[in-house]
Amino acid sequence: MPNAPRGLPLSAGRPQIGIGGCQISDRARELVLQVLDSNRLSAGPMMDRFERMIAAAHDRRYGLMCNSGTSALQIALQALKEIGGWADGDEVLVPAITFVATANVVLYNGLRPVFVDVDPDFYEIDPAQIERHVTPRTRAIIPVHVGGLPCDMGPIMEIARRRRLRVIEDSAEAMFVRYKGKPVGSFGDVACFSTYIAHLISTGVGGLCVTDDPEIEVLLKSIMNHGRDSLYTRIDDDEGKSGDSLLEVARSRFSFVRLGHSFRATEMEAALGIAELERREETTRRRQEVVARMTRGLESWKSFIQLPRSRPEAEDLRMFFPLRILDSRIVRDDLIRHLEDRSIETRYLLPLINQPVYRSLFGDLEPRYPVAAMLNRTAFYVGSHPAMSDEDVDYVADCFADFFRAL
Ligand SMILES: Cc1ncc(COP(=O)(O)O)c(C=O)c1O
Repeated sequence: MPNAPRGLPLSAGRPQIGIGGCQISDRARELVLQVLDSNRLSAGPMMDRFERMIAAAHDRRYGLMCNSGTSALQIALQALKEIGGWADGDEVLVPAITFVATANVVLYNGLRPVFVDVDPDFYEIDPAQIERHVTPRTRAIIPVHVGGLPCDMGPIMEIARRRRLRVIEDSAEAMFVRYKGKPVGSFGDVACFSTYIAHLISTGVGGLCVTDDPEIEVLLKSIMNHGRDSLYTRIDDDEGKSGDSLLEVARSRFSFVRLGHSFRATEMEAALGIAELERREETTRRRQEVVARMTRGLESWKSFIQLPRSRPEAEDLRMFFPLRILDSRIVRDDLIRHLEDRSIETRYLLPLINQPVYRSLFGDLEPRYPVAAMLNRTAFYVGSHPAMSDEDVDYVADCFADFFRAL
């Protein structure tokens, strides 16, 4: 198998096939220009609309936009901690395979992440492993819908109900898809989305919380706005008011009732989000075509790599194309080098417990999480997004084939 030195792509001149792709539509330009023409950059009508659209798409009453998926998770947890009166050091269950932010926000809230091993087929929190980690101090579970595949929410919600645990869905990588007819984001007390680059809806940076609970919604708004009194969190909260009620708003503009953050997004991100949502049928169709073509292209290699698996009870809309090496002759980094040298971007599949920062905090956890440990050695992903052409997909599949043939 030919090995080019790093930095010298074998496919010189070929643009990289990234994990995500950016396609700014005419409608996105139009809406962003509308924002610029309106002289209103801070949260306003575009954001209201985007929040309502995301909430409706996930069968929820309230949607709230902030500046990242991490911020959305941070404020969701902080709100539940305040409402529940949780103590510092109380425990939150998180999967042992996820993007690092899921566990970081637990620590940033003064809570303790307790890891739960994942399923080797779907790479998501394994409901059968949850209960043995529940202690009298467990307060919540954060299931993560990895790469656009809903978690097995039936048993997760049943355990949460029986053990009286709150649920925050980390839906940063999943939107719109249904598990047993209900959309992701509609199961937990709160669900959090990311609209960062390469996510299903991308606004550059951005995040959203959705919930049905008015008490949670009020807290989320306050916490993302410096802990302000919830009477005044957006600049037009004084609109149409006069006399005493206007004075009340004026007083609360600088009334801070809890420790909060500055996690606000702008109208421009919301405008991009609306444009993406408006064309989501088209992008969803293309995403499904890309995934189907990639699956067909790699089908003959399925004794070497495990292709993405679907849950019978759920739809999926892949944010990326996860793979796990099955053949012990293949060293993951050899395959990754082969792909990267050919301009195909890769990522390890959401390693967490083996990361230096988590090893220094919790020691060597891998022996207690054998599936996560195995995935940390063998799993990775490539892109499968609407900006990929058929030719891109075939090229990726051919590059895999070249590698396997040379084994
Ligand atoms: C599972 C998961 N949670 C949280 C996040 C954090 O989102 P953001 O990058 O918008 O902060 C990500 C981002 O990639 C993610 O994949």
